[in-house]
Amino acid sequence: MCGIVGYLGHRQAYNILISGLHRLEYRGYDSAGVAVVNDDGSLEVCKAKGKVSNLEQAAAGVNLTGHLGIAHTRWATHGEPNNINAHPHLSQDGTLALVHNGTIENYAVIKQMLLDNGVEFTSETDTEVLVQFIAYIRNENGCTLFEAVTSALRQVEGAFAIGLIEVNNPDTLIVARKASPLVIGLGDGETFIASDATPIVGYTDKVIYLKDNEIALIKRDEELQILDLTDFHKSDIDIQEIKLSLAQLEKGGYDTFMLKEIFEQPTTLRDCLRGRIVEESSRIKLSGVELNRDVFAKCKRIVLVACGTSWHAALIGKRLLQDFCNLPVEVEYASEFRYSNPYLTPDDVVIAISQSGETADTLAAIQLARQKGAFVYGVCNVVGASIPRNTDSGTYIHVGPEIGVASTKAFTGQVTVLTLLALAVGQLRGTVSPDTVKEIADGLSSLPETIEEVLKLSPRIKELSNIFTYARNFLYLGRGYNYPTALEGALKLKEISYIHAEGYPAAEMKHGPIALIDQEMPSVIIAPSDSLYDKVISNVQQVKSRGGHVLAIVSKGNTSMDNIADYCLDIPEVHECLTPIVASIPLQLLAYYIAINKGKNVDMPRNLAKSVTVE
Ligand code: F6R
Repeated sequence: MCGIVGYLGHRQAYNILISGLHRLEYRGYDSAGVAVVNDDGSLEVCKAKGKVSNLEQAAAGVNLTGHLGIAHTRWATHGEPNNINAHPHLSQDGTLALVHNGTIENYAVIKQMLLDNGVEFTSETDTEVLVQFIAYIRNENGCTLFEAVTSALRQVEGAFAIGLIEVNNPDTLIVARKASPLVIGLGDGETFIASDATPIVGYTDKVIYLKDNEIALIKRDEELQILDLTDFHKSDIDIQEIKLSLAQLEKGGYDTFMLKEIFEQPTTLRDCLRGRIVEESSRIKLSGVELNRDVFAKCKRIVLVACGTSWHAALIGKRLLQDFCNLPVEVEYASEFRYSNPYLTPDDVVIAISQSGETADTLAAIQLARQKGAFVYGVCNVVGASIPRNTDSGTYIHVGPEIGVASTKAFTGQVTVLTLLALAVGQLRGTVSPDTVKEIADGLSSLPETIEEVLKLSPRIKELSNIFTYARNFLYLGRGYNYPTALEGALKLKEISYIHAEGYPAAEMKHGPIALIDQEMPSVIIAPSDSLYDKVISNVQQVKSRGGHVLAIVSKGNTSMDNIADYCLDIPEVHECLTPIVASIPLQLLAYYIAINKGKNVDMPRNLAKSVTVE
């Protein structure tokens, strides 16, 4: 979703801003723009609809030579994606330029007040309302810019991360945030700002994650000041080290980030598991559980909240926690949970799952759960993101930066951590036998090799993708642990190939979707040799007898599907609870190759954002 970059220092700002925008492209956007305070004292703005490369073309003849600037990738919320609505936005007098992530909910009231006072608007955005509001307050009250910004931000409702610069003031950059992330990078005589750390990597490893309701005044050659917007007390400056490298942000020889991330999964799962299975596989060690033994020993219920792919991981987590912890477990979409007046008590543990750690609905669900006294545990990928900073405890999945918008390695990392979590909590509560822990822990330890084996199916899946690229609709079916795998397989296909796909519990098919089945609508069946295999076979027969084509994911050595399904992909046999991790790999590859056959941009699918910071 929208991305901010800013720079104040001794280098040419434009180059740093453009390279930062490129690194933020993965978040998803539909227009981009840049503003620089030039060395001649002018404030120059350049914007373009579409990709950052369009912006670079548009900026080719424009004077953008200065050492202070801000830039933005916009994912449209208020007004269509075009040059006018793209950020940065200027105040009417042209003195201020603002970039903004988030949404100002009371923008219409403020806009009306400004219109009544003669202010004119050029765009449809809430961001222009904010910059005009700041300029208005400054002019009306004769106050400093910093005072005007704080006053405006105290009056707006909603979410924001902002970067603001002023003409004739090449030495000052103002940033602030509420419910939308913002990172400040501290270099040697230079300061960077960004929505996440990726644009800063390679320049400095020292960062400050601005906290909610904080505003920072960044001045050349002066000490950084951070204040709390609610009571203006000085905030402590907490400098952290980022451990990302440039290599982690590059494609490493693959055509796309998505393919790299699919093929990286043996390594990412090894990283995810490192140090968490101990004593010859007989014990699971998660520090988040060990530090909160009392909470997990006494808790009476677990509620999992998440969105999208992370919600699919949560559905698998429900099965794992039920099976190994003997607890009631519920799964909620974070966006529904936050408005559902959920019944929660201090005996409940809420587990929030999020790759980015910035999803607005998941953050709001966390806040609500904490207000209601529940203990909140985060399962997150991005270190230092808002979700891990707003939960009571948690576990990182440690799969490295995921740049492809469609989640792949983060999903398998999430399910791996949920498996570890269920075993760790079950161990603590005495609800899982040591033999079961050992058996599953052995399976987890072998996952990297197991997945290497599955990845060898890639050429075959590529071939099969040619057969299936014609389809306009797909059905994905699975049962038990693999019903969520079916949902996830269908989501991957829709996201990147734009083919309509539905995931369904295989047995539910006969209650409605069976009406859709004909020769034009293929079904992908996830049918490893598990406790429901025989049931799935009869569901497949129901599809076949209606003329549907079937691609089945089955366990190696089980040949009984060979005469029923049209095509079979054999995956290694693993413990039932690990089948979603293993079976999701061929589904990722199938979606990938179909999308490539259709010529789609798999890393940046249309309309999607990597970090969904609006509700
Ligand atoms: C799909 C996908 C999304 C995210 C969802 C939640 O491939 O990536 O559905 O899973 O937007 O995002 P996070 O996990 O960052 O909270």
